[in-house]
Amino acid sequence: MVVLIFVAVALVIGAAVDAAPNLKTRQSITTLSSSQISAYTPYSWYASAGYCAASTTQTWTCGSNCEANSGFQPVASGGDGDSTQYWFVGYDPSLDTVIVSHQGTDPSEILPLISDADIKKTTLDSTLFPGISSSIEVHSGFADAQAKAATDVLAAVETTLSTYNTTTVTTVGHSLGAAISLLDLVYLPLHLPSGLTYQMFGYGLPRVGNQAFADYIDANLPITHINNEEDPIPILPGMFLGFVHPSGEVHIEDSGSWDACPGQDNSSKLCIVGDVPEIWDGDESDHDGPYGPVEMGC
Ligand SMILES: *[C@@H]1O[C@H](CO)[C@@H](O)[C@H](O)[C@H]1NC(C)=O
Ligand SMILES: *[C@@H]1O[C@H](CO)[C@@H](O)[C@H](O)[C@H]1NC(C)=O
Repeated sequence: MVVLIFVAVALVIGAAVDAAPNLKTRQSITTLSSSQISAYTPYSWYASAGYCAASTTQTWTCGSNCEANSGFQPVASGGDGDSTQYWFVGYDPSLDTVIVSHQGTDPSEILPLISDADIKKTTLDSTLFPGISSSIEVHSGFADAQAKAATDVLAAVETTLSTYNTTTVTTVGHSLGAAISLLDLVYLPLHLPSGLTYQMFGYGLPRVGNQAFADYIDANLPITHINNEEDPIPILPGMFLGFVHPSGEVHIEDSGSWDACPGQDNSSKLCIVGDVPEIWDGDESDHDGPYGPVEMGC
């Protein structure tokens, strides 16, 4: 009996000691290698191409943003660049994924949306987001922007999946476009067959929803949100208003190195929350990049 208890205790201690170093590795801030950084480049160009007029992404003749991913097979484009952000959907053969991209906006247009002290949060629409918990709340302006193109984007993704027989869906976007693409990432799996893989690459992403929203993303959907130097957009809307970023932050330092920041809203100075504590510490000109070789815009 005594021996058994001793063995059991030893096993528990052994497990605890084993777990500790793993936890530490997982949670430390890591600097990305140059090959890890360049793996983001095609997605950065797709996010930038989101700014191009639908007529030019439909034919994939949008200039340097399109030429950077010359193998892309466009399927559908939409939006008017005014009341509805431009968007496009298609297939990348070398990445073997559906790409969904939404247009962003410049700091002067997005700042009023996200720095207002009485920003409205809303639950997700139960027709677009069937079964989603009512504890999840998001910025109502972002929800409205996503709803405008949602069903057209879904139809285009379904066409792309069947035409190109792929099983991966990738959403991308910069600024407001990143917020819409994050909501698309939640929306699409609720309507598509199971067994698909999802990922999202966002650039200069503002905070989109509350703690329950960030936790839902962390539990279900892998995302990477890259922010550049002292860009103030990713620190808005403020945490004091109940907005929380999901995990997956990559922060581009002034030195040019890219650091992966573990957790939600990591307060280290190597991550955006520590680097830009207040909006007046920010520099709006950092919002568009560059993210590697890509300065966002068309
Ligand atoms: C589609 O891809 C799957 C593997 O992912 C394969 O088994 C199937 O044969 C493919 N279908 C067509 C029509 O190419
Ligand atoms: C922030 O990163 C550090 C590693 O430097 C880690 O120990 C800490 O847990 C992270 N914070 C959060 C909120 O995850």
